[in-house]
Amino acid sequence: MDIIFKNKKLKILITGGAGFIGGCLVKKLLDHSDATIFNLDKLTYASDLSQVNKSLNLKRHNLLKVDLVNYEQLKKALNKSDPDLIFHLAAESHVDRSIDNSKPFIESNIIGTFNILELAKIHWQNLSEKRRENFRFIHVSTDEVFGSLGLEGTFNEKTAYDPRSPYSASKASSDHLANAWFHTYDFPIIKTNCSNNFGPYQFPEKLIPLIIIKALNNEIIPIYGDGENIRDWLYVEDHVNALLLAANKGVIGNSYCIGGNNEKTNLEIVNCICEILDKKLPKEKSYKRLIRFVEDRPGHDKRYAIDSAFIRKELGWKPNFNFKESLNLTVEWYLKNKDWINNIQSKVSYKGERLGLKK
Ligand SMILES: NC(=O)c1ccc[n+]([C@@H]2O[C@H](COP(=O)([O-])OP(=O)(O)OC[C@H]3O[C@@H](n4cnc5c(N)ncnc54)[C@H](O)[C@@H]3O)[C@@H](O)[C@H]2O)c1
Repeated sequence: MDIIFKNKKLKILITGGAGFIGGCLVKKLLDHSDATIFNLDKLTYASDLSQVNKSLNLKRHNLLKVDLVNYEQLKKALNKSDPDLIFHLAAESHVDRSIDNSKPFIESNIIGTFNILELAKIHWQNLSEKRRENFRFIHVSTDEVFGSLGLEGTFNEKTAYDPRSPYSASKASSDHLANAWFHTYDFPIIKTNCSNNFGPYQFPEKLIPLIIIKALNNEIIPIYGDGENIRDWLYVEDHVNALLLAANKGVIGNSYCIGGNNEKTNLEIVNCICEILDKKLPKEKSYKRLIRFVEDRPGHDKRYAIDSAFIRKELGWKPNFNFKESLNLTVEWYLKNKDWINNIQSKVSYKGERLGLKK
């Protein structure tokens, strides 16, 4: 990786660094930079620090157990960390949960984002001139804010917002707040909107780990509707590399759409995983025998696809990981880490009716 922060004085604050993508970012920064890392996280059901704990440089890792919604707690954390750079990833992130109970999404994703924007702005205004000039706030968002595509077309930086789930509406609101803090206060924001991520350490409720785990347990593999919903998949490290590039070279006020150019229907993803498992852990009959179609998710967006031409041209980003190879790698990781799966699942009380988990 060529994007590294070699300044030992640099202090980087990452919100949501105990989550799937944040954990990958924190580990990468610990392994490849010399900066001091402040990992601010509420440590919800979705958190897990085993990825971060694999780093050999934990001396530079400072965990701050803070809820973004708690303004006073957050204020203390900002004073303590005194950051030069903030990556804001913390969010409630699971669409199904947002349909069942939207309140935590409104609180964490909207109020939480307002709190960190406001406090980070005050912190930035009080920095020395040099530090103020170099300060950046990377607001990490999703392609889901753009709504649903038909069979044609792609999302890009100019696409109008049209969120349809409580999750995507809360993320869209947070994006609007970030834009407002840039335009109103000149606060140095760079915004990113990325497509669906996958990779090791992803929480077992999300599509790819859910399928792997169901198949390994010889349980029904549920697919929403007709399985024809299309997502654009990207390996998590490619997303993290794009975030680091945005922080290093991104233009203040710009947004960057990040995608893998890997459009797959949900059914294709499930079949692909079953075929990998058929090779790695063959059973008498293919894992595909476990596939069942279940009632569709309400407001289920039909298709997402990102045109990432802008970040490719402006920042020279491109995905380094081939889709099939990294899916293979991900399945392999879940096969080798059954203890991790059991441990994380034992902490969760959500029964996930919507996921077909009870069916
Ligand atoms: N996973 C994807 O495919 C994807 C794609 C594009 C963008 N994103 C965005 O990237 C970010 C990270 O996604 P993820 O998949 O790693 O999510 P995740 O659910 O795995 O992790 C989110 C982390 O945020 C923390 N958090 C939640 N509410 C908090 C609060 N109020 N205060 C402090 N911490 C809180 C959680 O404890 C958790 O550790 C999110 O903002 C998400 O919208 C995700």
